[in-house]
Amino acid sequence: MILQYEPVYGYLEKKMINAYMENPGWITEFKETAEFEKRIADFLGVQYCSTTNNGTISLSLALLAIGVKPGDLVAVPDLTMYATATAVTLIGAIPIFVDVHYATLLMNLDKLEDLLFDYEIKAVIYVSLNGRWDTTGKLIQLQDQYSNVGFIEDAAQAFGSNCYRGKIGTSLQISSFSFSTPKIITTGQGGCLVTNDDSLALAIRKLKDFGRVSGGTDTHDSFGINSKFTELQAVIGLAQLEQIQYRLLRKRQMYELYSTYLAGIPQVAMVGIDEFTVPWFMDVRVEDRELLIPFLKEKEIGTRSMYPPLHAQSIYQQQPKESFGITEQVSQEILWLPSSFSLSDSDIEYICKSIGEFYEI
Ligand SMILES: Cc1ncc(COP(=O)(O)O)c(C=O)c1O
Repeated sequence: MILQYEPVYGYLEKKMINAYMENPGWITEFKETAEFEKRIADFLGVQYCSTTNNGTISLSLALLAIGVKPGDLVAVPDLTMYATATAVTLIGAIPIFVDVHYATLLMNLDKLEDLLFDYEIKAVIYVSLNGRWDTTGKLIQLQDQYSNVGFIEDAAQAFGSNCYRGKIGTSLQISSFSFSTPKIITTGQGGCLVTNDDSLALAIRKLKDFGRVSGGTDTHDSFGINSKFTELQAVIGLAQLEQIQYRLLRKRQMYELYSTYLAGIPQVAMVGIDEFTVPWFMDVRVEDRELLIPFLKEKEIGTRSMYPPLHAQSIYQQQPKESFGITEQVSQEILWLPSSFSLSDSDIEYICKSIGEFYEI
């Protein structure tokens, strides 16, 4: 069976974990974690990186660091993984959904601008869905214009992807990454927050360590929870960072191979990327998706459907008024094809041939 996604851990991860376990210490975050944070900050070209226990809690901590309070409104794209919204709900704030653009699947920034004008929005979570980013300059323009609004990036899926400004995850006040299993680099679970702002960095460090005045004391001068990493995760993350250039290159190659093999099938179109994007999952618009999925399953090919709109999820159905026509449309038509690093070129050829068979091409 070719799974839509499966993790790949190799010799280096094993070697580094074994070396760490020769003298393991307390296993909770310490020197290896500090090294992992430093390497991520250097790779992205940001000043501060704090690991967290996952990319959902990361977002809640980012909102708290920015000063979002219960009842505050937070703008979130309607098309994203559920956690982008539940991270808002978790701290008692209220997500307000924004429709997306058809071509890029990214938050519609004209609609965001209307919301910022009409409502008192406390923060925006911009999602760099599948490694794509705003190409128009409008996101930065809005961040500059609305200096009293917090701008957070949910870059969970976009580690190592680029945009016209450089690395994704370096242009807004705080950015969050996830290292859960299907991500570009993975530590099983885990995440991190990055920023160039001294006071936000300090707030995040305290939020993830019980609001302690300093490490190891039981004096707390602010709110905080436990969102610590572990050394085992850090060691695996360091091993994965060693392979980052290969991983980014391979995702682009996979996208190009799929594009080539699918080019002759009019019922199928890859969602477009620009020269900067590193797609995490191979996303295609397909006709008759609900029939194609079982057909491919019969051929031992796993796929996954694009997220349903957030406004249609049970806990958010009372949400207002807006029109979410594009999110509704793309949720119905996009399919994620197999995207693991274990996939060979001939696997991709087989998958595309099978898709051609379904459409009788
Ligand atoms: C866009 C987005 N945001 C947030 C998350 C949550 O990250 P985690 O699974 O590490 O909590 C994910 C995870 O897939 C995601 O894709």
